[in-house]
Amino acid sequence: MSAIRIAPSLLAADFSYLAGSVASVAQEADWLHLDIMDGRFVPNITMGPMVVEAVRHKTDLPLDVHMMIVEPERYVEAFRLAGADSLTVHYEACPHLERVVSQIHESGALAGVAINPATPVDMLQDVLEELDLVLVMSVNPGFGGQSFWPRSLEKVRRLKDLRGDRDRPLIQVDGGINQKTAGLMKQAGAEVLVAGTAIFKAEDPGTAIRELRQA
Ligand code: DX5
Ligand code: ZN
Repeated sequence: MSAIRIAPSLLAADFSYLAGSVASVAQEADWLHLDIMDGRFVPNITMGPMVVEAVRHKTDLPLDVHMMIVEPERYVEAFRLAGADSLTVHYEACPHLERVVSQIHESGALAGVAINPATPVDMLQDVLEELDLVLVMSVNPGFGGQSFWPRSLEKVRRLKDLRGDRDRPLIQVDGGINQKTAGLMKQAGAEVLVAGTAIFKAEDPGTAIRELRQA
């Protein structure tokens, strides 16, 4: 089994003190996860390329940008220029998914596709070989701090089956990941764990990351 990667989600961090929040996970995290929300694909509105760029100046960690926005193709370049290393778009937001994935690759970023709880993993079967990353949402996207959706475990197992003996796309999970669900997700086959609340609301984010890694 490949080593687990932990990607703290900045959504749960103190935005009045972003540089400090980033520093608090810098030693232990593998990636930094940034949630982009537009008030259309999801009800919430968060950050745009300017904030991603500001974070870019504060860390060398790979920036994993999760685009919960409609028409993500309009912003691929902007987020890449801002410093994103991977760009994940939602299957549900992309009628021409293969085209967007190519666009992301042409920008030089890794390409990911996320699926909402109601979207079967099998919808990605025909593009799977073109993806660097598949993000299985274990909550409905839009907010941090929601409870884990147990059926996502089955989706992770299904994705691992579909991938066969290849090691790409990486299997990432996001939403309600804590000490307990991290262990279950790892057993199911998840390789990248995104966690907001469990890390940034913990007394010591670095310790929380170590605990998730060992869960
Ligand atoms: C939710 C976001 C998540 C969020 C997870 O739409 O995609 O990345 O930050 O938050 P927790 O870990 O608190 O469930
Ligand atoms: Zn996310």
